[in-house]
Amino acid sequence: MHLTIDQLPRNLRGTIWACLIAPRPIALISTQDSSGIPNIAPYNSFSGLANNPPMLGISFSRREDEEKTTLTNIKETGVFVINLVPRFLADIMNKSAENSGKVDDFDRLGLTRAEASTITCPRIVESPASMECRLINSMLLSPSRCDFVVAQIVGVTIRDEFYTAEHGFDPQAADLLASIGPEDYISLNGEALHLPKTW
Ligand SMILES: Cc1cc2nc3c(=O)[nH]c(=O)nc-3n(C[C@H](O)[C@H](O)[C@H](O)COP(=O)(O)O)c2cc1C
Repeated sequence: MHLTIDQLPRNLRGTIWACLIAPRPIALISTQDSSGIPNIAPYNSFSGLANNPPMLGISFSRREDEEKTTLTNIKETGVFVINLVPRFLADIMNKSAENSGKVDDFDRLGLTRAEASTITCPRIVESPASMECRLINSMLLSPSRCDFVVAQIVGVTIRDEFYTAEHGFDPQAADLLASIGPEDYISLNGEALHLPKTW
């Protein structure tokens, strides 16, 4: 089978990359707007870009030509937290993808907040590890019309049970979740999950 991207059947457009580039870790991003209202949403087009100092990139598609709240908040405040997602947070992560408007997502999702250590932004206490990030740059990705954000990790909080003196963090012990399709996931301990889109 050979597929030419600009001749793809309609049902595969926008989904084939989600199965070809898999597994993808899930960033549950907590931000706040300039008035302090917190927002939480999942993003899996995220990847490590450099290791010392650590840098990462995330891409944001548009919602009916409007910027997503997470991106707007990152541009407004210059900071955000990436909270890693374990298997037990799968349903909450999926629910967090609903476009909830200007509400406190910690209250909406029943998650516990704590202030990040190195930036002014809330982190999710239930997450096994949270990365505190400062925006370095954002750019438009042509021709996809996505925004790509480059950030530097300036602090990390790791729950004691997942901290290792050798490498710092044990992702398998944390049973992290990864995307392997538009609605399909796998946990690092081998469990497959199907979570229908709610957004
Ligand atoms: C597992 C998962 C991964 C997602 N990854 C992305 C992504 O990488 N980029 C994106 O623009 N939207 C992604 N989304 C969709 C956003 O989470 C969704 O549009 C959400 O409403 C954005 O919320 P916000 O406007 O509060 O930031 C993802 C959704 C899920 C469930």
